[in-house]
Amino acid sequence: MKKFPAILIFILSFNLFVKADEGMWLVQLLGDKVYADMVKKGLKLSKEQLYSINNNSIKDAIVLFGGGCTAEMVSKEGLVFTNHHCGYDAIAAASSVAHNHLKDGFWAKTKTEEIACAGLSVQFLMKVEDVTAKVNESLKNYKPEEIPSKLQGVLTEMSAKAAEGTGNEIRIGSFFKGNQFLQFTYQRFKDVRLVGAPPESIGKFGGDTDNWEWPRHTGDFSIFRVYASKEGKPADYSSENIPYQPKYVLPVSIKGIKDGDYSMIFGYPGSTNRYETSYGVKLKVDIDNPSLVNLRDARLKCMKAEMIKDPAVKIQLASSYAGIANYWKFFDGEAKQLVKLNVVDIKQKDEAAFEAWAKGKPEYDNLFSDVKKTYDNWRPYAKHRMYLIEGIMGSPLIAFAAGLKNMDAALSNPNSKPEDITKSTLAVKNAYAKFIKGENTPSDKNILGIVLRMFYDDIDANQRPQAFYSMLKTNYGALENSDTYKKFSSEVFDKTLFLDKTKFEAFLEKPDTALLHKDPAYKTATAFADNYTNNYGKFYSDFTSANYTLNNKYLKGVLEMQKDKPMYPDANQTMRVNYGHVKSYSPKDGVKYSYICTLNGIKEKYKKGDYEFDAPVKLMELIDKKDYGQYIDKTANDVVVSFITTNDITGGNSGSPVLNAKGELIGLCFDGNYEALGHKIAFDKELTRTICLDVRYMLFVVDKLGGATNLINELNLVK
Ligand code: ARG
Repeated sequence: MKKFPAILIFILSFNLFVKADEGMWLVQLLGDKVYADMVKKGLKLSKEQLYSINNNSIKDAIVLFGGGCTAEMVSKEGLVFTNHHCGYDAIAAASSVAHNHLKDGFWAKTKTEEIACAGLSVQFLMKVEDVTAKVNESLKNYKPEEIPSKLQGVLTEMSAKAAEGTGNEIRIGSFFKGNQFLQFTYQRFKDVRLVGAPPESIGKFGGDTDNWEWPRHTGDFSIFRVYASKEGKPADYSSENIPYQPKYVLPVSIKGIKDGDYSMIFGYPGSTNRYETSYGVKLKVDIDNPSLVNLRDARLKCMKAEMIKDPAVKIQLASSYAGIANYWKFFDGEAKQLVKLNVVDIKQKDEAAFEAWAKGKPEYDNLFSDVKKTYDNWRPYAKHRMYLIEGIMGSPLIAFAAGLKNMDAALSNPNSKPEDITKSTLAVKNAYAKFIKGENTPSDKNILGIVLRMFYDDIDANQRPQAFYSMLKTNYGALENSDTYKKFSSEVFDKTLFLDKTKFEAFLEKPDTALLHKDPAYKTATAFADNYTNNYGKFYSDFTSANYTLNNKYLKGVLEMQKDKPMYPDANQTMRVNYGHVKSYSPKDGVKYSYICTLNGIKEKYKKGDYEFDAPVKLMELIDKKDYGQYIDKTANDVVVSFITTNDITGGNSGSPVLNAKGELIGLCFDGNYEALGHKIAFDKELTRTICLDVRYMLFVVDKLGGATNLINELNLVK
């Protein structure tokens, strides 16, 4: 057979080209080609209406919500919509067994009933500047091999300097693996109050069974209000504050959607790794994901056993459980889909095509053989690292104990300055308040017993902390016996200082390292952490550092190779826009999924009293009465609960507005589908769907179930 010319292989197979509806575009740097494509697909707005330096535009209605979600301004009195799972922590924090807003829902009928949420903030993006030249200038002081470890420090310092005296927050982000640097200026509002949330049985209907799946019937929304000082400026919580008047408010359309309609999503996607190499994908699929999934599975079982028994524990652990469970299912599905969609093969073809292009360019010589070497060197220790982070440190007590190492180091070092000690003690004090609030001893005790056993079973014998396991064997019994670990764990929890609040607070007043070194929780934490740091930590930093340098070079080449194609950078929690359309799909042979789900489906899934599929009696009555009001979808003759689109999103986009061609809010995006869970690494153009809450279902719940017509009246409704 004739050999295929290399250049032809390249043309036929390079997959890094942007495909239909793929792309998380930087709103401020939207190129003409991409904008033209948006218009071709149906957009009816000018570029200036999406983003403008001089005028208010859609981007001014979008906020980074809390630590990692998106929300949008929907009223001139500072009302914001986001997902229920984004407001979950705040709703749980505002709940008690007596006033259980998580379970029963919450509707503020007047502003005075709204609940302040300590620690919750929203950030508005003010400005974006390209600072690549400035960053590269600062990096000139370092040798190339020093850059990976110095880069973050340099960016943080430059950001802090730029923000000085402005009252704004500045973060410089790295794009295309360090080939471009952009500076983002934000205004942070810290007075954010809870206004409305449906009962959890609506907001999380379907629980983890339905999570990351379509068809979907979850009413995943919550409502907050942003407050500002009397001058309209960011301010800490104060009863004197007034509702913030945003620069731009999204109109809300209840006209509905149909298959094929244009859809556009603005938001803050957290992370993707679309230029990951085949070697990285293999490590994920073979080692990282399965390890994480196994360990989280065990931890979740311990937590759930206690949550089911006691409503107070359910409230206490709800948010932490949801977070662990969310990515437990994600990483499981991700590995499975990466295998099913042959992503390693696809990447290998990309790499071969790149090598063909790079032939004769010495800069790229040996690029992929170096990548291979880098992965080969790290692979033997990868599981150990996951078992430390997701296993041993998956016990909240042990993770807290490990956090005392800095303080211990400061106290033990004769050269420490008093301020080092004060600083590290203060950090422990802050961490303690959080730890003690979330600590549930029965589940944690079981977690510790189980993860110590799993570490023993699954990690190479010569990588274990030897002294620790010898001590276990000598004092507690055979290492093959689960009772050994149970006995040990019980004793740790009985004897540790950290669970006796009075004693621990006294210790913090007068820290005593001798006492700390004797503590069984601290001893356990340090046995594992030190074993890793002293023996394997260096391999990990070599791995990440070499990877940075190689990826940086790879992307430099890719950018050059594709210089005429629009390319989007990986997600990194900066504002992006993407566009696609409402569209049904076929998840497997012989099956076609509709583009909408309706109330009728809630009836079908409903299981009275079930942990995941129960629903409020009142909702079931409304469904039976067909009391849909203005929220009915005439074609479906039902209320549309959710719909799917081809948009390119990921975690962090949760709560993002889904807009129609005119820029009106039609839904809130809240999830991705199971069949495309490889999406952080590879966008599949047939299977990828974004799962969106239909805004009409949301308003139906607010109005008919919550009776919060006050909120409906605040909106700019398009009927
Ligand atoms: N998968 C959703 C996301 O990452 C979160 C859904 C939360 N619900 C749950 N059952 N854990 O955006």
